[in-house]
Amino acid sequence: MIKNKNIPLLEVRGISHNFDYPLFDNINLTLERKQSIAIIGVSGSGKSTLLNIFCSLLKPICGEVLYDGQNIFNISTKRLLGIRRKKFGIIFQAHYLFRGFSASENLNITKLLSNNEIDQELLVKLKIDHIMEQGIGELSGGQQQRLSIARVLTKKPNIIFADEPTGNLDKKTALEVMDILFEYTQIFDVGMLIVTHEDDIAYKCDHVYRLNKNELEKLK
Ligand SMILES: Nc1ncnc2c1ncn2[C@@H]1O[C@H](COP(=O)(O)OP(=O)(O)OP(=O)(O)O)[C@@H](O)[C@H]1O
Ligand SMILES: [Mg+2]
Repeated sequence: MIKNKNIPLLEVRGISHNFDYPLFDNINLTLERKQSIAIIGVSGSGKSTLLNIFCSLLKPICGEVLYDGQNIFNISTKRLLGIRRKKFGIIFQAHYLFRGFSASENLNITKLLSNNEIDQELLVKLKIDHIMEQGIGELSGGQQQRLSIARVLTKKPNIIFADEPTGNLDKKTALEVMDILFEYTQIFDVGMLIVTHEDDIAYKCDHVYRLNKNELEKLK
C-alpha cells in the first residue's frame, strides 16, 4: 500500500544522464494518481533510457526518483526489488515473454507471483482470449504486445511504465489498447508514464512532453 496519499505517486528531481555524450540534463517530472504522461521524441533522443531511470532499472548519473516519498536509488535492494515486483508494471519495447511457453503459461507466472487472478474480461477486451493455448512463437507481434500488457495489468501495479506500448498495433487496435490502460488508471487510482513516437497516442494522455535538446519540453 502507498503510505502517504498526499504526496505524488512519482516525483523525478534533477535527473541527468549520459552515455558517450550527454543525453539529458536536469529532468523534473511529477506523476499524480489517475494521471497519464506521455514522452515523445525522435529515435535515439533517450526516451527508453529516461523511462528505464524512472522505473528504477537504470541509475542516473545524478538526480532522484521518489516513489511513495522515497528515493528508489537510495533504498535497500530488497525493498527496491519488492517495489519493482509488486508496485511497478513495466511494458518493455521488447516484450520479454517466455518463449517456449504458451500465452496462458506466461500469464500464470504473473498470477502466481502476484497472487492475483487473471481477468478473463481483460483478455476479451484485448482480443487475446482465443490465443491463450498458443505458444509465444506462434503469436503475431501485436498479440505478443497485448499479452505483455495483460501480464502487466494482472500484477495490478501502482504505476504503469510503457515503452511504445502500441508500436506493433494498427491505429484502431492501438487506440482500443490505450483506452484499456486509461480505464485501468482510473479504476485503480494509479498513474501511467508512456514513451511513444505516435503523437495522436501521446495526446490522449493528460500531459505530453518532448525530449528535445537534452530537456523535457512541455507540449500539453
Ligand atoms: N546501455 C547503453 N550503453 C551505451 N549507449 C546506450 C545504451 N542505451 C542506449 N544508449 C544510447 O543512448 C541513446 C538513446 O537511446 P534510447 O534507447 O534511450 O533512445 P530512444 O529515444 O528510446 O530511441 P527509439 O525511439 O529508437 O526507441 C542512443 O544513442 C543509444 O545508442
Ligand atoms: Mg526506445
